[in-house]
Amino acid sequence: MQEIKFYSGETIPLELHKVRIVQKLNLVPIERRLEALYEGGFNTFRLSTLDVFLDMLTDSGTNAMSDNQLAAMMQADDAYAGSQSFIRLQKAVEDVLGKKLLLPVHQGRAAENIISTAYIKKGSLVPMNYHFTTAMAHITQNGGKIAELLYDEAYKINSDHPFKGNMNIEKLEETIKHHGANNIPFIRMEASTNLIGGQPFSIQNLRDVRAMADKYGIRLVLDASLLGENAYLVLKREEEFKDSNMGEIIKIMTGMADLVYFSARKLSSSRGGGMCTDNMTIYKELEALVPLYEGFLTYGGISIREIEAMAVGLYETLDESMICQSPSFIKYLVDALDGKGIPVIKPAGVLGAHVDAMQFCAHIPQTEYPAGALASALFLISGVRGMERGSISNQRDEYGNETYADMELLRLAVPRRVFTLSQIKYVEDRLNWLYDNRLLIGGLRFVYEPPVLRFFMGGLEPTSDWPVKLMAKFKEDFGESL
Ligand SMILES: Cc1ncc(COP(=O)(O)O)c(C=O)c1O
Repeated sequence: MQEIKFYSGETIPLELHKVRIVQKLNLVPIERRLEALYEGGFNTFRLSTLDVFLDMLTDSGTNAMSDNQLAAMMQADDAYAGSQSFIRLQKAVEDVLGKKLLLPVHQGRAAENIISTAYIKKGSLVPMNYHFTTAMAHITQNGGKIAELLYDEAYKINSDHPFKGNMNIEKLEETIKHHGANNIPFIRMEASTNLIGGQPFSIQNLRDVRAMADKYGIRLVLDASLLGENAYLVLKREEEFKDSNMGEIIKIMTGMADLVYFSARKLSSSRGGGMCTDNMTIYKELEALVPLYEGFLTYGGISIREIEAMAVGLYETLDESMICQSPSFIKYLVDALDGKGIPVIKPAGVLGAHVDAMQFCAHIPQTEYPAGALASALFLISGVRGMERGSISNQRDEYGNETYADMELLRLAVPRRVFTLSQIKYVEDRLNWLYDNRLLIGGLRFVYEPPVLRFFMGGLEPTSDWPVKLMAKFKEDFGESL
């Protein structure tokens, strides 16, 4: 795609869509934001949207839908079984992802539940480039373990490596030899590796993983939730594919996997999810679990309207001017923050900008959750809701011990076509102020910790009255401004 240059020489991303439906936002006073934090246990998942100004929690189910998606929802063929909407979705999956056999599920983690139920048993090990919270929870719930096999570069905050999501092939072979191929039900590759800053893998790396899977006779499972953006970065960064189009790249990637699953909340800017394959044995192994956990095979727990939106959304991932919108806004934000010396994961990836809380809040020990504290502090001083992606999002080990995350990140998601550039500039401005006042941020401790996926509903409290002091400094500097 042609980049659009400005005569002024400014490098800003230009929106290639127009806004026709809007939703009013609230920017409530800082005193209310402080109350909301206490009410929500200093956990941004537990905030009400009435108190949130810019919702950068996630891109999951929050991407803007297109006019064509909304129009398609009106022609939903609502039927328990044999719906024509499902036939349209099957065709979209075959056209875009290149797989003939589709099993619908209500969202990405439902696919993870079914795949783990079918393939994981005590002693199973799943090598992966990196875990995603729900994928890991389902594997461990079924008695399995995971092995994260990234190259060291992936853990460097400041890097220019184009493919930090690549699987470490040498470690993969070592792991297979050490644990035995028989104990490895599948290798999992996650497109645009979520928890290390939305970093892609290259097609060359996927080829190498495929070769290893073939050598040892192991299935290759692709988590395609963020496949469109990974394909876009392949187009931009992998020399061999610079003249390819999105459709070709996507099919090359899915073509190497035995089983592809996805959260349609991300992949196709809708709701729902799916698992697809060309392998009838795999299809049969999973098929029976769909009616058990999800719903009949032609809706899988998804509303039929959303199935229509999914089908259209899948085709739209092939449109480079749509798929580039979020990564180009993220790049703009990352460059702006980096320019101000704010520690942020580089190169800019997909899904969101990821601020390194370990450096931002170097004075807060990991035992007091610097990324959670930073997420709370940013919400307090701006109404911007990000997500903690650090030790709070980690799960305890099998003996109940706390495990500390490799990285303590505050993720500021940039859903597709949702924010304007002035809103992104507001985020930059408030983060800049917070960085200058970072020593006022203090730590957090758990007061309520659920046993599984604790980050969703867990409750925390500040280790001192730092939020009150931070608010006082904000008022001193900004006066009556919200
Ligand atoms: C890479 C990845 N896999 C799986 C999931 C789970 O999908 P869902 O939230 O639809 O259950 C997500 C969700 O964020 C994800 O980012």
